[in-house]
Amino acid sequence: MRVGIITGGGDCPGLNAVIRAVRRTLQTEGDGVEAIGYRDGFRGLIESDFLSLGPGSVSGILPVGGTILGTSNRDDPFSWIGVDPRADVTDRVARNLREESIDALVVIGGDGTLDIAHRLGKAVGVGIVGVPKTIDNDLAATDRTFGFDTAVSIATEAIDRIHTTAASHHRVMLVEVMGRAAGWIALHAGMAAGGDVILIPEIPFRFEAIVAAIEARKARGKRSSIVVAAEGAKPVGGSLSVYKTVEGGADTVRLGGIARVVGDAIEDKVGLEVRSTILGHVQRGGSPTAFDRILATRFGVCAARQVLAGNFNSLASLQGNDVVPVPLADACVGRRTVDPAGSLVGVARATGIWFGDE
Ligand code: F6P
Repeated sequence: MRVGIITGGGDCPGLNAVIRAVRRTLQTEGDGVEAIGYRDGFRGLIESDFLSLGPGSVSGILPVGGTILGTSNRDDPFSWIGVDPRADVTDRVARNLREESIDALVVIGGDGTLDIAHRLGKAVGVGIVGVPKTIDNDLAATDRTFGFDTAVSIATEAIDRIHTTAASHHRVMLVEVMGRAAGWIALHAGMAAGGDVILIPEIPFRFEAIVAAIEARKARGKRSSIVVAAEGAKPVGGSLSVYKTVEGGADTVRLGGIARVVGDAIEDKVGLEVRSTILGHVQRGGSPTAFDRILATRFGVCAARQVLAGNFNSLASLQGNDVVPVPLADACVGRRTVDPAGSLVGVARATGIWFGDE
């Protein structure tokens, strides 16, 4: 048996821990199974660009961020950007897989990558096992994705640091975090770092309510406030803050700028200086937390075991406290977003956090 490993979509802390766990489990539990890693997501599969992953090849990568294989969110074999005009190159993929004697692929990615993998497995007749990843934590098929804990930790530390400038200068400091259409990073980091107002996509806000929250704090003698804004947050009846739209990728819309929008709208009304910071890709960079290393390792072991058992079209998933295989098709449907009436939002409100909707 020979197994190919692919990382697709945006990078995420913990990808290397998955690669390592897959490789090692194929060695310990699948006597003699070979593995190769395709470079740069599906591009490596299309262009037959891969490296051999021998048993010793994954030493030292557990704490390393990013992916040793490289990744891409533009190379879709059903509509490949590498030819002009874009075209379906799945026949090329099928030929390469035959020539490379690949029996199964472990594909580590978000919903877009996993959807392509699912369709590709059917189109070219190769066994697919998926592993879900995203810092956004918004995949319905798993209770938690690796990378999220690291992103929250980085954002929490950044907000902790911003507190000191807010307090010293008596300012309103807005901090914008990632998360696309889900407010998980903002909610968790905002709560962990003692944010005063948290703006998330699931709870549209009113500018007047944010001003009222800051005024209420001022009335209690608090001369600084921290507003944590998810990049996908938007005002009631308003639109997303998009800094750019692009052609040719999986994501045509790049979010960014809501912290500045809110800051500009409230500055004249709160009687305090206002500054905004966009944390951006620092949230995705560097070494994964211990939690993410372990979750990624559990996912990798589960995925390798599915390959060895021939349980294809499956996805490693955290269900409660257990990592178990679920149907791969589940990864491609539905988003897990913050429940505005859920217990975590309730806990935040109970501790005095505003969501800009009061
Ligand atoms: O999905 C992960 C994520 O980091 C989002 O939070 C963010 O909106 C997006 O990817 C950024 O993507 P890119 O790296 O392509 O700019």
